[in-house]
Amino acid sequence: MIVSPSVLAVDYSRMNEQVAQLNASGAQWLHFDVMDGHFVPNLTFGPDILKGFKKLSPLFMDVHLMVSDPAFFAKVFQDAGADLITFHYEAMESDEAIRKLAQEIHARGGKAGLSVKPKTDVTVLEKFLHDFDLFLIMSVEPGFGGQSFMENSLEKMSWLRGKLDEAGLNAHIEVDGGINDKTGARAKEAGADVLVAGSYVFKNDIGKAVKSLE
Ligand code: DX5
Ligand code: ZN
Repeated sequence: MIVSPSVLAVDYSRMNEQVAQLNASGAQWLHFDVMDGHFVPNLTFGPDILKGFKKLSPLFMDVHLMVSDPAFFAKVFQDAGADLITFHYEAMESDEAIRKLAQEIHARGGKAGLSVKPKTDVTVLEKFLHDFDLFLIMSVEPGFGGQSFMENSLEKMSWLRGKLDEAGLNAHIEVDGGINDKTGARAKEAGADVLVAGSYVFKNDIGKAVKSLE
């Protein structure tokens, strides 16, 4: 399993110490939640914060855009050093715009991901299976850390893993929201291979929490 701790839950008064623990934890990715106060009712980080994290950590930068204008912010965060840009299906106007943005992200040398919120039917992803490196199934309403895992995400992951297998594709399935050792194990069983965890990692012993998700 790839573990992608969400820095939304970092204690910013102890940021250096916590990122050092993360670097030593075995986590491979770092999940960076960008919220614009419009697509979701919360506001988080700009690109300079990502640059700061990159100075502290060699981990793969997994950027989750919860914004109304993903095309604009994809470039901003790739210029700042994002390795993967995941944007939301719900923020896009058309299938063409979704494919175009995936191509732009790839052309700039990054990996591209597409995400669905809990109330979005997962079958909307079917026509994009060949266009993305990763699909992100939200297991909470995006916007805030610390919410409870939504069970309906499990059947979405199994459906998606089935479709990817049928098509001979090995895109990642990432799950985000309410992940701990128990929900993480269930998500893994359902076909996820990337676990995002914020509160669970940073409110416990970071090294032990990451190990328990691997
Ligand atoms: C929620 C974010 C998540 C969040 C997860 O909108 O996308 O990445 O940090 O937090 P936990 O793990 O606390 O549910
Ligand atoms: Zn996220």
